[in-house]
Amino acid sequence: MKLKDKDIVSVEDLSKGDISKILETTKKIDEGDLKADMSGKVLANVFFEPSTRTRLSFETAMKRLGGDVISLNSTQASSISKGESLADTVRVLEGYSDVIVLRHPKEGAPKMASQFVEKPVINAGDGSNEHPTQTLTDLYTIWSEKGSIDGLKIAILGDLKYGRTVHSLVQPLVEYDIQLYLVSPSQLSIRRSILEDLGKKSGEVIQKASIEEIIDKLDVLYVTRIQEERFADKEEYEKVSGSYEINKELLDQADDDLIVMHPLPRIDEISPEVDGLKQSKYFDQSKNGVKIRMALLELILGDNDGKRT
Ligand code: CP
Repeated sequence: MKLKDKDIVSVEDLSKGDISKILETTKKIDEGDLKADMSGKVLANVFFEPSTRTRLSFETAMKRLGGDVISLNSTQASSISKGESLADTVRVLEGYSDVIVLRHPKEGAPKMASQFVEKPVINAGDGSNEHPTQTLTDLYTIWSEKGSIDGLKIAILGDLKYGRTVHSLVQPLVEYDIQLYLVSPSQLSIRRSILEDLGKKSGEVIQKASIEEIIDKLDVLYVTRIQEERFADKEEYEKVSGSYEINKELLDQADDDLIVMHPLPRIDEISPEVDGLKQSKYFDQSKNGVKIRMALLELILGDNDGKRT
């Protein structure tokens, strides 16, 4: 259960015990019970796709812990534009840093990169595949808002086909005793292979076509945008664009204690009128991204296994 020096390229790299430890360490950091120290350590942020939250929350986390950050933010600005391979790029970067945080359009690129370096590699999103540190942020938000994950009725609404945050989140969620509703337009339903894996775990998984029929049952509603950039055919995107919206009228039918989450960025799937409601938690969720990444850096790079020094 030690996370020291571990790669985090998939949620499959994390046991339920590892996740509990990361959540508990995040709580300690949040409550000021753990003073992690990354002075002298360097994080390399390597982002070959756009990002606001993931890149800047890793940077904020490292700087709040006293560490430094170096950044490579586009293939055009790096020697990849001259034909250098990703493998050579990360080999070079491990000479400059203690941990490599990599976002890449190609599924599996962080796993491949991790095989070329000794230093830990953290997947910051690989194509439509996975986004494990967003999942940790999401689980921390649910756990801290609800006190427990077991016993909850959780719906994930939106682009379940291309959304990497969904692909990572559903896997640990079904390790808990939950009811999980997967709600999407039929063209954007979750990949069959993922659904088959979910069927083997403890949580119950139910697919639905509309959020209206279950909104009154839910404790957590996790909304995602339609990933326009992943569609090969823009006409197919136009067919599903704008097909769902969370607004006040819908939330009037929900429990007052429902929490509405979204990994962001949002386009039009949550109306801005929801932002002021007590149910909206997506900006708290993005703020939690810094705390969870502070905890993760402490557990991967620190010497105290998340224990108070
Ligand atoms: N949630 C998330 O991954 O946001 P960014 O794409 O801005 O990093």
